[in-house]
Amino acid sequence: MIEKVTKSNKINSTIRIAGDKSISHRAAILNSMAYGIAEVTNFCVGDDQESVIRCLKALGTKIIHRIDYIDDYPVHFFKIHGNGEKGFQKPKTPLDCGNSGTCMRLISGLVAGQDFNSVLIGDKSLSKRPMNRIATPLLQMGASINSLNKEDVGQITAPFEITGMNLNGINYISPVSSAQVKSCVLIAGTYAENQTIFTEPFKSRDHTERMMKAMGANIKIEDTMTTISKSKLTAQDIVIPSDISSAAFWMVLASCHPNAEIYLPNIGLNPNRTGILEILLEMGADINITNKKTDMGEPRGDITVRSSKLKGITIDKKIIPKIIDEIPVLSLAACFANSETRISDAEELRVKESDRIKSTVLGLSKLGANIKETKDGMVIKPVRKLVGNSVESQGDHRIAMMLGIAGLLAEKETIVNGAEHAKVSYPNFWDEIKNII
Ligand code: S3P
Repeated sequence: MIEKVTKSNKINSTIRIAGDKSISHRAAILNSMAYGIAEVTNFCVGDDQESVIRCLKALGTKIIHRIDYIDDYPVHFFKIHGNGEKGFQKPKTPLDCGNSGTCMRLISGLVAGQDFNSVLIGDKSLSKRPMNRIATPLLQMGASINSLNKEDVGQITAPFEITGMNLNGINYISPVSSAQVKSCVLIAGTYAENQTIFTEPFKSRDHTERMMKAMGANIKIEDTMTTISKSKLTAQDIVIPSDISSAAFWMVLASCHPNAEIYLPNIGLNPNRTGILEILLEMGADINITNKKTDMGEPRGDITVRSSKLKGITIDKKIIPKIIDEIPVLSLAACFANSETRISDAEELRVKESDRIKSTVLGLSKLGANIKETKDGMVIKPVRKLVGNSVESQGDHRIAMMLGIAGLLAEKETIVNGAEHAKVSYPNFWDEIKNII
């Protein structure tokens, strides 16, 4: 699918965004493991949401979905019936995780603790992504994992089979800061004898830990180290805040546009996800946050972003896990700054839905950006002006959307090929773009 985008002259919009994808996945998975029934309000929408619900239903979870319209905006409610510790059923078909790495890695932790075999499959992009990062700790805990991918030599990618076992706790020092790996191990840890300790180099998003704590898990969180013991979870209702990673596109648009004001209500403000705000503020953005509150350990608030003059910055190590999904759109912001931006220590971007360093550099270069790929990041020199061209999403939702926003800022027309991939996390993204034009 192709979308054509042209520059908008003036922007004054309120944009409502669906529930946070990461929190939605945890709310569905952890409540399905719990005792009781929970209602999850403002669930995320998109293909990734369908993947996680499909997998949980295949494992025997009863899930009821309804949509209510609040001020004409569709809000998704999911009622999740918990299976308790051992209520899951052996799936009759492979667990199809679609494009979702979070779904595949978290569900792996869940099925590793069951007493049946499960096969996990994904789409072409997900089947290339590294699964050794979860296979290594799960094998140490006692699960058995076999790759079914004939091309795998000394590594594990999807499809693979997990034979659930009685697990044993481990002390695992992860080589990568990854919330997906951490969550996989912590979920398996709720089924394991003895305690499981997970340590990561820098703190990644902690939605799993916060939700487990609210559900009564035996969990201790100390900065980059989390300890969990066998736990019975209690189902908990949650109202999910809107997704800051989706809001990031509009924040960058308003910051770079010469005549813009965008209001984004009820955005998740978990401190491990607000790197986008920290970076934009450091670049000189005009951002105002109001109506702050917290529900189920997850802070949220309304964000207003207005036009500003940005300056370039250096982004490295410690903040990378906090902005991992926002780096493509931050690279776009850097094109409009008045000095150079350097991004390093971001090699994790190479194993996302596409190689996001390459995809970002390719797309923005075609629009006239001065952007160079490095081993672990990018160097972006200011051009302060982009010119429309034909660009490609590389099958990656966040690249498709970043290029759509670039089209609203660029001179002449931008044609985004593979625009349909936005529906993985933001199905009405292109409608919002049309509302703005
Ligand atoms: C996610 C964690 C991040 C992020 C992904 C969602 C999660 O991946 O890129 O979009 O929900 O846990 P890693 O934890 O592997 O970096």
